[in-house]
Amino acid sequence: MPVLLQRPRAAVACLLLYCLTYGLSSPDPRQREALIKLEASMQLGGQIVLTDAEQRLDALLFKMKQEEMMRADFPPAMHFFKARALIGASPIFRLLQKMPKGGALHVHDFAMTSVEWLVKNATYRPHCYMCLTDIQSVRFIFSVPAAQSSAPVLSLDPAGKPQGQGGQRHRAGQQDPETVYPSQDEIWTTFEQAFLALLGLVTYAPVFRDYYYQGLTEFHTDNVMYLELRALLPEIYELDGSTHDTAWTLKTYQHVTRQFITEHPDFFGTRIIFTVHRAVNTSVLTRTVEEAMKLQRDFPDIMAGFDLVGREDSGKPLWYFKDVLSLPVERGVTLPFFFHCWRDRS
Ligand SMILES: *[C@@H]1O[C@H](CO)[C@@H](O)[C@H](O)[C@H]1NC(C)=O
Ligand SMILES: *[C@@H]1O[C@H](CO)[C@@H](O)[C@H](O)[C@H]1NC(C)=O
Repeated sequence: MPVLLQRPRAAVACLLLYCLTYGLSSPDPRQREALIKLEASMQLGGQIVLTDAEQRLDALLFKMKQEEMMRADFPPAMHFFKARALIGASPIFRLLQKMPKGGALHVHDFAMTSVEWLVKNATYRPHCYMCLTDIQSVRFIFSVPAAQSSAPVLSLDPAGKPQGQGGQRHRAGQQDPETVYPSQDEIWTTFEQAFLALLGLVTYAPVFRDYYYQGLTEFHTDNVMYLELRALLPEIYELDGSTHDTAWTLKTYQHVTRQFITEHPDFFGTRIIFTVHRAVNTSVLTRTVEEAMKLQRDFPDIMAGFDLVGREDSGKPLWYFKDVLSLPVERGVTLPFFFHCWRDRS
């Protein structure tokens, strides 16, 4: 940061010196031009020379940006929940969608596919049941016969299906977001409840495969060519209640990715960053890191490494787990870390 700050200061110093030296005569516009060019060349990408086609696109983008800024509702100045629909409809967003991208490097396993798909596709499958928790958060399960539960369970089988508004129920931001979420605490609670709500859907084996394939399809449609997926690799279940382990889940990611590449040869692939919630205690983390080392050894092609997920400021910093996180180095085992700590102090 100090380096960045020095530049405007240097520019001001130049200007002052210039004023002192030439203060008595009329300023030379060519020197002003030169100073502005020098400043522009220090910006990110300032040294890149655009081709004619790129210059035309640049001019078009600039015009579109100006038009968007003239509108009464300017998305960057609004709460994201209110701006989201406007961003989706924005001509600039549509243009950006078409442009080629490299990789999407910060994607979470169960936040990669549109909620619309999940509601329209997954909840409409046979044997889907739901109930509400004490705090009115929805939970799902696929089961035969109906799952045992102390809470009232509602069948979502086609005959008795509540139609239509499923998608609206679970989406944050239907009411005024400033009132509903006065602080980070409320939004994080809703955010984490949303993952618990969809867990019963996406950990059902047939949905798990389709959800991931659909996610790849959505990224590919946006011209993203490579994914790094932070994945919890949870237990995946079948209709009869039997479950699969972590290695099965990882192999399924590998299998579905290969299938996707066969059907979309320009897609490079996915690598998995195995993750655990940072709220776990040291013994659970130790077990998870040991499992990560094993997966890294057994599946070097698809495993990228390891990370922690969950709210950082209210959780424990990485430093708290330093002994467990040193295990791979102590044992001479390779386990790359992909910590994403940009939201907090850890
Ligand atoms: C759900 O998605 C799967 C996989 O893309 C597809 O085969 C199926 O037809 C979809 N079902 C519904 C109800 O949209
Ligand atoms: C750690 O967490 C696990 C799972 O929640 C729990 O079973 C275990 O007793 C905890 N261990 C300690 C030492 O607190």
